[in-house]
Amino acid sequence: MRTLLCVLFGLALPFEIYTRATNVISMSQKRPNTRPIIGILAMPVVSKYGDEYIRSDYVKFLESGGARVVPIRSGGGANTTQGPYYESGKIFYDLALQANDQGDYFPIWGTCLGLELLTVLTAKKYLLSDTDSKNLTLPLTLAEGYRRSHVFKHMPHDILNYLRTEPVAQNNHQHSILVKDFKASSKLSEFYKILSTNHGRDHLEFVSFMEALGFEPSNAHIRSLELVTGALWTLLFVVEPL
Ligand SMILES: *[C@@H]1O[C@H](CO)[C@@H](O)[C@H](O)[C@H]1NC(C)=O
Ligand SMILES: *[C@@H]1O[C@H](CO)[C@@H](O)[C@H](O)[C@H]1NC(C)=O
Repeated sequence: MRTLLCVLFGLALPFEIYTRATNVISMSQKRPNTRPIIGILAMPVVSKYGDEYIRSDYVKFLESGGARVVPIRSGGGANTTQGPYYESGKIFYDLALQANDQGDYFPIWGTCLGLELLTVLTAKKYLLSDTDSKNLTLPLTLAEGYRRSHVFKHMPHDILNYLRTEPVAQNNHQHSILVKDFKASSKLSEFYKILSTNHGRDHLEFVSFMEALGFEPSNAHIRSLELVTGALWTLLFVVEPL
């Protein structure tokens, strides 16, 4: 349950990239397969098993919503200002901006380290601060206007109430974008809207959910977004009936 919510509402791991739904002819079915392909940027790690990994629950979570997942290898250290993880993330971030400018839809989802990387890519500098926010589960403090966001617009009331009253958002991050630093950065505040905030044990207030402004998925493309939120709601009911 909490692990599941970390995928969406936690603050510190990979960076998931949604590609457009494609029409692929499946060899066995000989008919169009419209399930979206979602790339997940691998997280660098130092381990005897290899130098990168993707959490299996991220993959299962997306597959349970009907997506097909492909790993995007990056390699190197988990540094958000330089190196392979940063470079790989930047390629997709730039492609998404380019697609959006041309009226196409190319969503990017950043969880945990992914969210941290997004702030660096947008602000073009490192604005994160150290906070006491590891192994900390909290209810979301939803920000004004969150109901107008794409992510929360259609979320049922009971799920929203659950998110804001129960400690279901798992935080496991050492670095955070503080609300004051977010607001002081015109690059960040003109690009994203804060949807929720939280306080670490040190009482520092950080951004726990944000969404890019000015992107309008067309009806044809809304499916990838519904896929994520829909899978979340479904799993919430299945894993822990309300
Ligand atoms: C990334 O690498 C640079 C150069 O080595 C270093 O100064 C910086 O602290 C690193 N950032 C993080 C978040 O580890
Ligand atoms: C995380 O927090 C829980 C609850 O406070 C505690 O039982 C657990 O030992 C902590 N885990 C780690 C790795 O610190």
